[in-house]
Amino acid sequence: MKILIADDELVSRKLMERILTGYGECEAVESGTATLEAFKTAGENHKPFDLITLDISMPDMSGLDVLFQIRAMEKQKEVPADKRTVIIIVTASADKDTIVTAVQSGCNDYIAKPFDRDTLAKKLIKLGLVNPSETGSQKGETSLLKKSARVNDGSAAPPVRPEENVIVKAVKDVIEAFKKGRIELPAFPALIQKIQEVLRMPDVTLEDIAVCIEQDQIVTLRLLSMANSVHYGGQGKVKSIVQALTLVGIKDTKSIVSTIAMKSLYKADSAPVKAVMDKLFLHAIATAYLARAIAKKYNGEDEDTIFLLGLTHDIGKVLLLHAMTLNLTAKGKFPEFKLDDIMAVIQTLHAGFGGAVFQRWGFDEILIKAVNTHEAPGISADSRNMVMILYLANMLTRRIGFSMFEEPPPDLSDVLQLLSLNETDVAPILAEVQEKVQATAGAI
Ligand SMILES: [Fe+2]
Ligand SMILES: [Fe+2]
Repeated sequence: MKILIADDELVSRKLMERILTGYGECEAVESGTATLEAFKTAGENHKPFDLITLDISMPDMSGLDVLFQIRAMEKQKEVPADKRTVIIIVTASADKDTIVTAVQSGCNDYIAKPFDRDTLAKKLIKLGLVNPSETGSQKGETSLLKKSARVNDGSAAPPVRPEENVIVKAVKDVIEAFKKGRIELPAFPALIQKIQEVLRMPDVTLEDIAVCIEQDQIVTLRLLSMANSVHYGGQGKVKSIVQALTLVGIKDTKSIVSTIAMKSLYKADSAPVKAVMDKLFLHAIATAYLARAIAKKYNGEDEDTIFLLGLTHDIGKVLLLHAMTLNLTAKGKFPEFKLDDIMAVIQTLHAGFGGAVFQRWGFDEILIKAVNTHEAPGISADSRNMVMILYLANMLTRRIGFSMFEEPPPDLSDVLQLLSLNETDVAPILAEVQEKVQATAGAI
């Protein structure tokens, strides 16, 4: 079987590749344009794909457009129904409207992220692409969407990595435990809320803000060290929070206080986990400063809210990593599992979980949505600014080395255009943020 995997998101693409490799010859692409090119080339070489897994949200064009164009090309070439490529749409959320549109545009089935080996195997059986005996999955299922049976090409069953399913299950269990209150959800740092309230007071003075900050000793000490750093130029002379506020400015102080207060959630019990947490923390700071700078340039959204959103967007990842390692350590299964494998599973589940955490913390609907969709928001003219700014900031961290991913970000021209920005606006923002993150991280 010849398979094309189209997904701009690395972790999800790799997972799909790992699962499907055992079923046939896989080719992977990162964009809609590349999908169409690969489809055309395969057709020209008379070796069409049997299966395409198509991510709905790719930066250059949506999966729905790709699907529509493929079906149009097949129609033009008068490919009979039973010879058409089977297309499985891959969606980040079970959005009914999108799925209905995809079905109407001629997809054979859909699968929601995060997916696992079992779910995918069941889809392949339903679609008649493989025999149940090849996957070890349940027999007797028929496709709701499939119109014609496919000929099994006798590919070997994929090698099952038992630990992969165990990790998926363990992460899902942890999410369930959070939801049912068996694992206590940490409170959103109270100091961040308090400082916001103080700043909203009429005639607020620097002393009022200082009194609020001084309630937290750790934050007070770190803020003083930050003000005395080379970046802010205090050179050891800043001894009080009022002085720090004067030197650093209220806006930056608020950002720094929020950053320090959030740090308490990045807990780690071992050196390798701490290394990941530190990287996640830097990524959060970078996303926050980038989002704030973009919001300022775009001039349409509240900069403080955007900063906080950037700072907390990966909270799902942080809480899941901490709870997972605690859980596995307690059961004596850590470090039996590779941290990379745990992170790969968390990557597929963290955004939805983060949205649920935001809901529990009582954030506004738009902030919940931004966190929920930050990995693949589906950028269009209808997208909310907050969602686009967070997505852009998260992706831009890759350009300054503060991302968990080393590969460059996907094409961001659409989202830049929708925010009325261009690459010339981005360059100075990146330089400024890079310096700010280093200064903040150094002091904290
Ligand atoms: Fe994320
Ligand atoms: Fe992120």
